[in-house]
Amino acid sequence: YPLRHPEQLNWSFAGPFGHWDVAQLQRGLKVYKEVCSACHGMRLVAFRNLEALGYSEAQVKAFAAEYTVQDGPNGDGEMFERPGIPSDYFPSPFPNTAAAAAANGGAAPPDLSLIAKARAVERGFPTFVFDLGTQYQEAGPDYIHALLTGYDQEPPQAIAESLQPGTYYNPYFISGPALAMPPPIGDDQVEYPDGSPQTVDQYSRDVAAFMMWAAEPHLAERKATGFVVMIFLVVFAGLLFAVKRRVWAGTA
Ligand code: HEM
Repeated sequence: YPLRHPEQLNWSFAGPFGHWDVAQLQRGLKVYKEVCSACHGMRLVAFRNLEALGYSEAQVKAFAAEYTVQDGPNGDGEMFERPGIPSDYFPSPFPNTAAAAAANGGAAPPDLSLIAKARAVERGFPTFVFDLGTQYQEAGPDYIHALLTGYDQEPPQAIAESLQPGTYYNPYFISGPALAMPPPIGDDQVEYPDGSPQTVDQYSRDVAAFMMWAAEPHLAERKATGFVVMIFLVVFAGLLFAVKRRVWAGTA
């Protein structure tokens, strides 16, 4: 089947001076919470991690309390439910993969914590390339954006005839012509308080950026550190050169 290449977008976190667009990450979190979390978990992200998105401790506390999490066993050996606290992780919508698959026509919705990195690797870009800050780093979010915006295409005749029931044609899907996820989001489905366009394209950019942050929370920090290291190396090289000249001054 013809696999289409995702469009390469301009991400704020791209390049050597990459940084997070915090407002975008907040919008992405909102999309994840209101739409994707119905089917997809994010079990490696704790509520307290959301402070990196510019939320205060009190806001994170309030956010966590909106969720119900499993805890236990208590003194009587029983599991119980309670409101979330900042040290909890995002609860998964299904108790296990089998239940997740059963509820979704046989294909389990993957946990999204690392999907941005996982799909970059599966598209052929090895993880070590990540730290070089090349365009390849964005292969994951480019893919997620393309997938979410790629549902409105007509399948070629041959593919249309062989589609499995309960699957949806998407030319960007990495492992087949169609996937079990229905088009998850439509225009105006999530309200943006900051006035950003409420379009599938914008939602997809924002949620993909949010997933990049979830998979690589220290990306921007690492780039900033890398830049300081480069400056240090240049200064240090100059210093070494000056010292070398002085030590060897007067010799032939
Ligand atoms: C798969 C993202 C909402 C059900 C996926 C994949 C991604 C994704 C990145 C992996 C595709 C791949 O394997 O390459 C999202 C996002 C959502 C969202 C960002 C919110 C905007 C939903 C919802 C449902 C759902 C609401 C359930 C109704 C599934 C299923 C799969 C899947 C069943 C597995 C598809 C297959 O392997 O055939 N999703 N999803 N997703 N998603 Fe979603």
